[in-house]
Amino acid sequence: MSSIVVTGGGRLEGKTVIQGSKNLAVPCLAASILFDDEVTFYNVPDISDVRGSLNMLRCLGAKTVQKGNTVTIDPKSIKSCSLCDESGVCGGGRSSILYCGPLLAKYGKCSCVSPGGCKIGKRPTDLHQMIFKAFGADSERKENEDNSNLSFCAEKWRGCVIELPIRSVGATESAVLSAVLAEGRTDIYGYAKEPEIVHLCEFLCTAGADISFDEAADRITVNGVKKLNSCCFRLSPDRIVAGTYMIYCCICGGNVRLIDAPACELGAVIDVLKKAGAVITQHDGCIDIAMNKRPVSVGVVETDYYPGFPTDMQSLLLALESISEGSSIVVENIFESRFETANLLKKMGAGIEIEGNTAYINGTVKLTNRDLAAPDLRGGAAVLGAMMAADGKATLSCTEVIDRGYEDIAGDLKKLGFAGLED
Ligand code: EPU
Repeated sequence: MSSIVVTGGGRLEGKTVIQGSKNLAVPCLAASILFDDEVTFYNVPDISDVRGSLNMLRCLGAKTVQKGNTVTIDPKSIKSCSLCDESGVCGGGRSSILYCGPLLAKYGKCSCVSPGGCKIGKRPTDLHQMIFKAFGADSERKENEDNSNLSFCAEKWRGCVIELPIRSVGATESAVLSAVLAEGRTDIYGYAKEPEIVHLCEFLCTAGADISFDEAADRITVNGVKKLNSCCFRLSPDRIVAGTYMIYCCICGGNVRLIDAPACELGAVIDVLKKAGAVITQHDGCIDIAMNKRPVSVGVVETDYYPGFPTDMQSLLLALESISEGSSIVVENIFESRFETANLLKKMGAGIEIEGNTAYINGTVKLTNRDLAAPDLRGGAAVLGAMMAADGKATLSCTEVIDRGYEDIAGDLKKLGFAGLED
């Protein structure tokens, strides 16, 4: 179990480069199964979720080479279509479900450990399963002692019409990944509009896929192609990591420059932080953010599908509102149990009450550091942010959950001028 000792206090002053996007790396690595030959990705974050994806590809038999932030996958040696190994190497993350579409399209079968609940909600896979069936898969769910495996096979893999009842990011990715090599045309209605979907499609089109977006019709159309061509692709920067460091600057005060930060994908976050009193400018791929007073409460914020305020920034917003002047309300509309962080912030003295999917926050001038355990990836980053501005010294444990998505959060915080971290 890893931990960080945090001594709160001090303004941020500095600059750092934003890592490549986790939520783009995950589907792109799954997409590499669709290729006949090598595919290379640049700017891949060296995080445990990516290492988990590489483990899954190796479980299938693919060759993977990771040199710094460059990753090459050679899928020619894939021999297995099963991600159900006994050691658990392949079943740890939710992303195993994203491998099913490509495996079914290319090899006609697949199995994985059902990626079940985690601390932010139930996270079912019913939409993914509905999609595989629409393309032609038969499914079989085997209950075993400690997990339930999902197995599918398909004799034919044909384009279809998919109507998503929820704008699910993962289900949209599954539909696109399934459609690229399918016979004929696929129409995906009610798709998720997150930037990672657009970038995934850009990558696939670079390799020869035929994908188009019709925003007015709320539809992605994919015309199946026979094969994808070997290619190289650079992953875009991680908007949630950029948003995290912007919130840290608002919580601690200071002046920060984020280099290679996707300002155009952070509109809703920038609007909220401006309300809190931050001065934010953007130029040449950088975001400059300055906060020179105590933040003020931002009123009512509801998480929503893109381009709304992202659920992945909700815990971080709670941390900011906990020390802001005035009262605010944060409503979580995407995941049903993403308020675990509120309980930890309350232990630090935050005035938060949770009713259903709504948090009512009364800002406190100072929080007090307490020994706490990071609850989940973004919740861990949020508690760390709150600890950076709180009185006293304490330990944040279970920080390996933060490493799932942040390449080197301690190193970045040093570059941003925060001196209060010890291993
Ligand atoms: N849902 C279903 N059935 C399904 C799939 C989803 O009911 O088959 C529901 C979920 O339970 C949830 C809603 O649909 O209530 C949206 O979930 P979505 O499928 O969009 O989430 P995801 O694809 O599993 C991705 C990100 C998450 C991010 C969400 C929402 C990746 C690898 N993960 O998850 O990222 O919170 O979209 O934007 O892209 C994170 O980075 O911390 C993280 C959790």
